[in-house]
Amino acid sequence: MTFTKKLGIIAVSCALAAPALMATAQTQQQAAPSQKELASKSWMNTKLSAHERTQLVLKEMTVDEKLGLLMGYFGTDAPWKNFTRPEESYPQSAGFIYGVPRLGIPNIWQADAGVGVASQSGPNVRERTALPSGMATAATWNPQVGFDGGAMIGAEARTSGFNVLLAGGVNLVREPRNGRNFEYGGEDPYLAGVMVGHQIKGVQSNHIVSTLKHFAYNDQETGRFNLNVNIDEAAGRMSDLLALQFAYEIGNPGSVMCSYNRVYGVYGCESDYLLNEVLKKDWGFKGWVMSDWGATHSTVPAANNGLDQQSGFPFDVSAYFKEPLKEAVTNGWVSQERFDDMAGRVLFALFDKGVIDNPVPKGSNNIDFKKHGLVTQKDAEEAIVLLKNDKLLPLTKSVKKIAIIGSHANVGVLSGGGSSQVYPLGGMAVSGLGPKIFPGPMVYYPSSPMKALEARLPDARITFDEGANVQTAAKLAAESDLVLVFANQWTAESVDVANLSLPDNQDALIAAVAKANKKTAVVLQTGGAILMPWLNDVSAVIEAWYPGTNGGEAIARVLTGEVNPSGHLPITFPAAEAQLPRPKVDGYPEVKDQRFDVNYTEGATVGYKWFDAHKHIPLFPFGYGLSYTDFEFSDLKAFVKNDQLNISFRVKNIGAVAGKEVAQIYIAPLNTKWEAPKRLGAFQKVDLKPGESTQVSVVVDPRLLAMYQSESKTWKIAKGQYEIILSRSATEPQATVKVGIPAQILDVQGR
Ligand code: BGC
Repeated sequence: MTFTKKLGIIAVSCALAAPALMATAQTQQQAAPSQKELASKSWMNTKLSAHERTQLVLKEMTVDEKLGLLMGYFGTDAPWKNFTRPEESYPQSAGFIYGVPRLGIPNIWQADAGVGVASQSGPNVRERTALPSGMATAATWNPQVGFDGGAMIGAEARTSGFNVLLAGGVNLVREPRNGRNFEYGGEDPYLAGVMVGHQIKGVQSNHIVSTLKHFAYNDQETGRFNLNVNIDEAAGRMSDLLALQFAYEIGNPGSVMCSYNRVYGVYGCESDYLLNEVLKKDWGFKGWVMSDWGATHSTVPAANNGLDQQSGFPFDVSAYFKEPLKEAVTNGWVSQERFDDMAGRVLFALFDKGVIDNPVPKGSNNIDFKKHGLVTQKDAEEAIVLLKNDKLLPLTKSVKKIAIIGSHANVGVLSGGGSSQVYPLGGMAVSGLGPKIFPGPMVYYPSSPMKALEARLPDARITFDEGANVQTAAKLAAESDLVLVFANQWTAESVDVANLSLPDNQDALIAAVAKANKKTAVVLQTGGAILMPWLNDVSAVIEAWYPGTNGGEAIARVLTGEVNPSGHLPITFPAAEAQLPRPKVDGYPEVKDQRFDVNYTEGATVGYKWFDAHKHIPLFPFGYGLSYTDFEFSDLKAFVKNDQLNISFRVKNIGAVAGKEVAQIYIAPLNTKWEAPKRLGAFQKVDLKPGESTQVSVVVDPRLLAMYQSESKTWKIAKGQYEIILSRSATEPQATVKVGIPAQILDVQGR
């Protein structure tokens, strides 16, 4: 059973009474009145604000109706828990919450997640369009691509009958071995926040709610239910929390999902600090906080410390937000005011995002998959990073004998596993792979890189070898004009990788193939960074991440030059694990139910900042990415106007083919100390024809020039000289200027 493992970990010894598990035991809902009747109700007046409408409808609601909004159920049967999903939920979905139809408040149907409409595994998965991984979308460095992808998957969610998409994962890539990095936006708070923020905005453009998750510091999967994160408060505000803050401000999500782990000794879903103080008070969040599935541990502490809705029962030990919450309110342990606030927050988001005024239709498969395939393909094409190219790529039509080796590249492309798993139209390209239970299966999408290449290189003879036998593969390589080795690293929710080496003897395979034929290009499909002991022996490397539904087409188009690669790394690729802040993932391998601390002593010095501060030379730096053309940077200028740092420069395509470049601005303080020598301050992707140039102007968010002050809750910019570095990655400066910046103190929201 899909979730046996997940449930097993979090609720081992809880013998729940069967009746408590029947979600269908919900009080009978009264039938909905007609649209006409509803339209005359005061709270349905669209001229009023979401807040006013919320207050009006709250007055009409009974205690049980409010309570109903606060209790979420798993949308999938869990027979081993004697749990039957609510009748009204969609099978194999993530969640369901009863609405109040008599007042026009719809039921809440929740689907995972960030790359598309996911299904829990089982016999009747929904087949939907998958974007490339979140990490891949971040590698586009193109917020518009983030928005378009979000809009597309949000549209599919809507058509599928879901009004909440559990998207918006922006946990900072602090631990490169985290099995869920593929769902997130990389290691830099600004890039990650901007990219995921735009994706959330896109999802919500469909009048559905997106989440922002997992709040906060759920940066590794090992021991995620048991670990406790400690980090200097200010450092947290400048790293993990800053990524969430940017994504929150840009995306304005209706809901935030609190995380499994503890922070400063307290569970994420009952942390007064995280939920009441940071999120609701400091940032002004007006929507609702839902727990992660199995992350609610109490009634009174959780409710009073900021959790608004329990999710995914029966993942928790008890239905804390059902009868126990009613009892707590009756006894005054949770105030009536707070109880109304909890329900009001759910209602506010539903009004604010247009969920109530634009009810989702009954779920159907009425989706234009072809059109949506092109949206995900564009994302993948901008996400693919060309890491190395000794004049091997793009492939020319004159190559006669090509060997394709490994990773089922004859039939499909890989995706990441766990609750975010989107199942492909037409079924999996390869069946029976990966774990039999959650977070399996390992899913290959039926988009064959080999077929896509054959269509583009009609004169070439392309031979496939699965790569299982190193000698056979090397022999084929020796007999070919050129070799494409497809290597992969499957990563998934709930498990971290032991190390950054490619699994399954693939390093040996690549080394042997490259020895047999120097004209070898490696195509990687990984969740994040890996080590490349064979790098010097191959002629080209592309990082295709998990490239989504049309990934095979995207890879072929980049390999043949139909698309000029323009992805840049949203993470650092270390040269060795010894360069990382911690030698291995804390608590790895996981010991069941064992509590432990994860001390982020590196603070905000994450990713390239850590590498800079420690003068480590990475294998590939953050921001890195090659192109089939070349760019020239000039006219860098920086000035402060109206307390804002403005930067302008020119980028010119000086090569022979059209291409896109990601211009990156890093800022280095000269008279003051930050957590690292420099920070990413701004970026802009430009699209240029050969010979064309463009003028770019960017403004730097003042928080990226400041140090956060915990006591005063302010962002403090120190007066002094700062170096502005125009660069094509964290280590390839193209031009620098110095600028004097006056002292400034900004409030907690950076204003
Ligand atoms: C994951 C969430 C997901 C939820 C519902 C949890 O295990 O951490 O990201 O949204 O399950 O499937």
